Amino acid sequence: MAQFHWYPGHMAKARRDIEEELKLIDVVIELLDARAPSATKNPDIDKLAGSKKRIIILNKSDLSSKEGNAAWSKYYTDKGRDTAEVSLKDGAGIRTVKGLLLKAAEEKHKRDAAKGIRLKRPVRALVCGIPNVGKSTLINSMAKKGVTKTGNKPGVTRGKQWISVSKEIELLDSPGLLWPKIEDEDTAVYLALLGSMNDEAINTDELIVKLICLLKEKYPVILKEKYEADPDETVEEILIKAAVKENMLKKGGVYDTDRAAKFLLDSFRSGRMGRITLEFP
Ligand code: G4P
Repeated sequence: MAQFHWYPGHMAKARRDIEEELKLIDVVIELLDARAPSATKNPDIDKLAGSKKRIIILNKSDLSSKEGNAAWSKYYTDKGRDTAEVSLKDGAGIRTVKGLLLKAAEEKHKRDAAKGIRLKRPVRALVCGIPNVGKSTLINSMAKKGVTKTGNKPGVTRGKQWISVSKEIELLDSPGLLWPKIEDEDTAVYLALLGSMNDEAINTDELIVKLICLLKEKYPVILKEKYEADPDETVEEILIKAAVKENMLKKGGVYDTDRAAKFLLDSFRSGRMGRITLEFP
């Protein structure tokens, strides 16, 4: 799993890199984690991308709830973004992204035609997002399916490789790396729960309390079915139930709630706990 230490210098470099990459492209594909789209979005991209065409991809939708996926799709669609909920781990997700890029290409060719430009140049797209949202997964899948690398374009794009996905679409073969923007406590907790930032700043106790409170509020069925626990029980009581269920005993026959807490975190991250969306619009 990608673990990054972000220092001001790294953020400044990431910003410079993405500014350079944005000069080369027509379409920005912004990848978000469907379990926490707001926490995994860096709002600075709005300013950086200016008026470029934007596509929002809610990835890992196999791990988030159906209700959450529908709510976030509507939220970004209402904001005028082409949006898709996908699971890039399977082929259907890749096809969906290609469909959106094709639509962007058609729109561009129409605009060009209106300006008297007849040449149908492929649209050039950049995949961007914070670490761990699935950028490499997307680029690698596109590269596998597609494809000849078109190589350097002298003068303008030195050092950059393009993946020719179809005659209408080209993709920059390196991702635009965005830095996580942590503006409040919830964002920090959600990123830590996803495993997208170092846990140093937030301890496991804080994470597990947040996760269990969320389960109590939004996913009582999971509590009941997986751990035979009820929403009106305390965090401690629920941890004991999980420890009992998993037979996690310490020496002396006491149930090991620390181990149970780690187990729950791991079960959430891997999706074994069930499909869970952490935040809603
Ligand atoms: P990045 O370039 O944005 O940093 O992300 P990357 O593609 O490396 O993906 C990060 C992790 O997320 C990878 O798992 C990847 O397999 C997983 N992933 C990507 N798309 C999906 C998806 O749609 N659903 C699920 N469940 N997982 C997805 P990893 O544990 O780091 O590696 P590995 O398990 O693939 O070896």
